Amino acid sequence: MNRRYRKTIIAGNWKMNKTPAETKEFIAQLKPHAARAKWCETVLCVPYIDLPAAVKAAKNTRVFIAAQNMHHAESGAYTGEVSGPMLCSLGVKYVVIGHSERRQYFGETDEIVAQKVKAALSCGLRPIVCVGESMAQREKNLTLDHVRMQIKTIFFGVDPKDVKKIVVAYEPIWAIGTGKTATAEQADEVGRAIRECIREIYGARHARSVTILYGGSMNPQNAGELLAMPDVDGGLIGGASLDWEKFVDVMESANQ
Ligand code: PGA
Repeated sequence: MNRRYRKTIIAGNWKMNKTPAETKEFIAQLKPHAARAKWCETVLCVPYIDLPAAVKAAKNTRVFIAAQNMHHAESGAYTGEVSGPMLCSLGVKYVVIGHSERRQYFGETDEIVAQKVKAALSCGLRPIVCVGESMAQREKNLTLDHVRMQIKTIFFGVDPKDVKKIVVAYEPIWAIGTGKTATAEQADEVGRAIRECIREIYGARHARSVTILYGGSMNPQNAGELLAMPDVDGGLIGGASLDWEKFVDVMESANQ
């Protein structure tokens, strides 16, 4: 983390879990802890149907609400989809884009992800855009090339003034939901490569303002070590974010 230049963000990604009633209860428990956690911004990425309950419960707190996906068009004949302006109208502030599960099960490519990032920025949402390699890519020593290519595609055409609004989440696919975490050195190495790639396109000032999260089996036991690294500015936490006490423990780890 480097709080001098960028925000630390601890984000919980609930995936397809929790009802509106459970959402309300979770935020009620989280609220007093989030109020104290001045060292980080707390974000909850909740299913679409939980968004109104989440925004309401998080009103006047330091908890920000995110959607887990959006369509790139503003409106139109896209049955089952939700647009950026629709999310904004609810009071949503962030949106996860290009999670590896969206890429794997719903065919999202880097090009689609790039379109969505631009659509999110144009309506004032902060994208949390996910990148990361498979185990096969890591074993072939292709991690940095792969992630750099993803970053270049995603940032292509982004206005320099919007660069710092983008949050990048480095999530190695092999670490998601598996209990296998990248080591702090591995997470930092890729975080550094991401920042270097942004620096090559936009220059040092923009690059150092971007918050880069690590995600993949982050939990209260490993969070402290990961967050101590200079290019790990927070976490995108799946499994361990479903339990408010564990999530608070991760937030506490960011207080260093
Ligand atoms: P995990 O999920 O913490 O359960 O590995 C992280 C994510 O998919 O964002």
